[in-house]
Amino acid sequence: MIKISEIKETDKEWIADLLTNQWGSTYIVSRGKMRDASALKGFIATDNSKPSGLITYNIEGDECEIVTLNSFLEKKGIGSRLIKSVKKIVKNHKCKRIWLIETNDNTKALHFYQRRGFHLVTVYPNALEQSRKLKPEIPLVGIDNIPLRDEIELEILL
Ligand SMILES: CC(C)(COP(=O)(O)OP(=O)(O)OC[C@H]1O[C@@H](n2cnc3c(N)ncnc32)[C@H](O)[C@@H]1OP(=O)(O)O)[C@@H](O)C(=O)NCCC(=O)NCCS
Repeated sequence: MIKISEIKETDKEWIADLLTNQWGSTYIVSRGKMRDASALKGFIATDNSKPSGLITYNIEGDECEIVTLNSFLEKKGIGSRLIKSVKKIVKNHKCKRIWLIETNDNTKALHFYQRRGFHLVTVYPNALEQSRKLKPEIPLVGIDNIPLRDEIELEILL
């Protein structure tokens, strides 16, 4: 059975390994800022105690950024449940919107977020050039051999 729970201090070590494995390091760059996602709040999904998903977020003022989202058992509702958990918590913080940055190559994630009610609000052409100055390990080519170039901002108003 899949269980969703808040990240605890004891989860931090495997979360750091997982983020490094998925994103090249625990540091994630969006809108020209680099953040250690392993230090952020979030939720984990576990399937009989085995990690099966992770979402991290950062609240600033009345906005919440989803910094990372990963599901390791796809198409079973884990990604959707992790988003729902963040939505629930940020409402208590009186956040007005949840936003995130997606890269232009990640068409699966663009599909996923739009199906969950997010809107594409801004394209930042060639923003990855700037991001690579902070995190040189960001590759030049992304998913499906699509050149990794642009940041796309998505949001959902609460
Ligand atoms: C994008 C991502 C998080 C989606 O996670 P997921 O756990 O597969 O998400 P869900 O299962 O909630 O939804 C995925 C699809 O499966 C469908 N689904 C959910 N439960 C299902 C079930 N039991 N049977 C069949 N389909 C199902 C959903 O309806 C959804 O389809 P839709 O978007 O067309 O409506 C995942 O693919 C991922 O980790 N990608 C790599 C990392 C990434 O790109 N992260 C985003 C950038 S931060």
